[in-house]
Parts: sequence; C-alpha cells; structure tokens
Amino acid sequence: MFATTLFYQKPTTSPIDYFSAIAALKQELNAVILAHYYQDPDIQDVADYLGDSLGLSQQAATTDADVIVFAGVHFMAETAKILNPDKLVLLPDLNAGCSLADSCPPDAFAAFKAQYPNHLVISYINCTAEIKAMSDIICTSSNAVKIVNQIPPDQPIIFAPDRNLGRYVIEQTGRDMVLWQGSCMVHETFSEKKIVQLQIQHPEAEVIAHPECEDAVLRHAQYIGSTTALLNYVQRSAQHSFIVATEPGIIHQMQKAAPNKQFIPAPPMNQCACNECPHMRLNTLEKLYLAMKNRAPEVTLPESTRLAALKPIQRMLEMS
Ligand code: 13P
Ligand code: SF4
Repeated sequence: MFATTLFYQKPTTSPIDYFSAIAALKQELNAVILAHYYQDPDIQDVADYLGDSLGLSQQAATTDADVIVFAGVHFMAETAKILNPDKLVLLPDLNAGCSLADSCPPDAFAAFKAQYPNHLVISYINCTAEIKAMSDIICTSSNAVKIVNQIPPDQPIIFAPDRNLGRYVIEQTGRDMVLWQGSCMVHETFSEKKIVQLQIQHPEAEVIAHPECEDAVLRHAQYIGSTTALLNYVQRSAQHSFIVATEPGIIHQMQKAAPNKQFIPAPPMNQCACNECPHMRLNTLEKLYLAMKNRAPEVTLPESTRLAALKPIQRMLEMS
C-alpha cells in the first residue's frame, strides 16, 4: 500500500506589479507615455502626459524621448510617428482604431474632393494618414474654430470627416463649408431624451458636451469644448454638478481636479456601455507593459504618405 502524497506546486511566477514594471521600462527605453483622457484610469495614472488631441500632438512634436508609448487610438499614434520618423512609436493594441477615421475611406474622399477643385481641405485630426495627406490643414476640436477664422473669407472650404464638429464650426464662424458626412459612434450615442430627464432630476447640474455630439445634444449644453477645455471648465465653473456628454474616461481627471464636485455621465440611448469608446478601451495596462517589454506593436507608415501628411499637421501647429 502506497501512502497518498499530495504535491503542492508553488507558483513560479509572481503577479506583475505593472506600475513599477512600467516605470522601470520607461527608464530603460528612455520612453515617454502619452495618454488620452478616454483611456482606462490606471493607464491615465502611469502617463507622463495626458491631453486632448492637440496637446498630445504638441507633446509628440517636442519630446526628446527615444520611444513614444501612445496610449490612445491609431490615428493619434500615427500622428506622433509622422512628427517623429526616427523614434519608435508603440501602440499597446494595434487594433485600437476610430469609427470617425473609418467613416472617411481614402478612395471615396479623393472622389469627393475632386468635385470641389477650388476648395481648401481642412481635416479633423481623427482621420487616417492618407486623408491627412490629401488635406491642406489639420485641426482638432480645440483649434477648429480658430483655424477656420484664419482662412480668407472668399476661400471655399471642405471640412472632413466629422459632420457634427463641422456643423458646430459653421455655427461658430458663420462660414459655409462643404461637409464630409462622417461621425463618431460614441458621441452619436448620447440620448437627448435621457439628458433632459437627468436635467429634471438634477436642476442644478450644467450640461457640458464635446462638439462631436449631435446638434440635439449640443443645444442643451451650457459649455461645449474639447476634452481639455471641458476639464478646465469644470475647475473654474462656480457650478458643483455637471452632466458630461463625452466619453466617460475624462471623469477620472475631473474627479481628481475637482474632488468635491459631482460628474454625471450622459447616458447612451440603450442600456449599454456604448458611451465608452470600444477602440480606446482596447488598450489595457497589461498591453501597455507588454508593448514596452517587447518594443512592439510599432506604428509605421510609408515615407511618401508621412511626408504628405506632415505638411498639414505642421500648418496646424503653426496656426494654433
Ligand atoms: P479631443 O480630446 O481632442 O477633444 O478629442 C476627442 C476624441 O474623440 C478623441 O478621439
Ligand atoms: Fe474615434 Fe469617437 Fe473613439 Fe474618439 S471617441 S477615438 S472619435 S470612435
């Protein structure tokens, strides 16, 4: 008869402390971590710089790091690569795309543009490098009005790809622009009806919204701006309660900046979490760590496209 022996195998690997592992890799690679506000809170907490699309591009244009780890979506990391051809640009998940960028395919846009040969093309930064390469000036939600206001009044303009931001800029500037009919799946999900119901429940709350939202939502907003502009606004406003009509990732920074204020995410039409950007949320802290450890996945693009896309981005940086 054999004695029953129970073997207990001690785990050979201990769970990784991603926060300290990422800090060590940052030193080793001389890397900078740039993150958008729509990233998971723990990614925001490891970032060296958090910002809106303009702020992130400005940081990418001036960094002296050897490696840029971009915690955002593909067009953002691609913009960083366009500005830094000799640096390694890492994106934690290469599938982190953007519905707005996808809504403007290059072939269809080339045919559209050909119908308006005398028009200047201003494209929102949420587009692919191919669309940037077909554009004269890039803009973001924080400088679109400023840039359009600098164009001579007799110069006709195509604005692409976001019809909602385009319509908002037309209202703000009085310029008659031709709009490409693209949109963001996240910002078009907010329900006007549910926002109005929330306003009845919280009469003291101000509605603040991103200009990618539809007009039906924007007309209820007391303040409209880019993610950074919204974050700055809640800090300086005398109000204590806000209904936030943009991706709720930004609320992490709002709570940190104004811990005594209340932030209510604007609800989507259905009982889903579709006000969270499914593209942005593909990135995780683990994938960010692995990207740094493996020095991949890397964002690359053909040099001819990069050079053509660089010009309108540089114009934007000069005009901002
Ligand atoms: P900003 O951060 O520039 O306001 O843009 C929001 C957005 O949708 C990014 O994809
Ligand atoms: Fe694109 Fe909209 Fe997601 Fe921004 S929130 S990355 S515009 S899908």
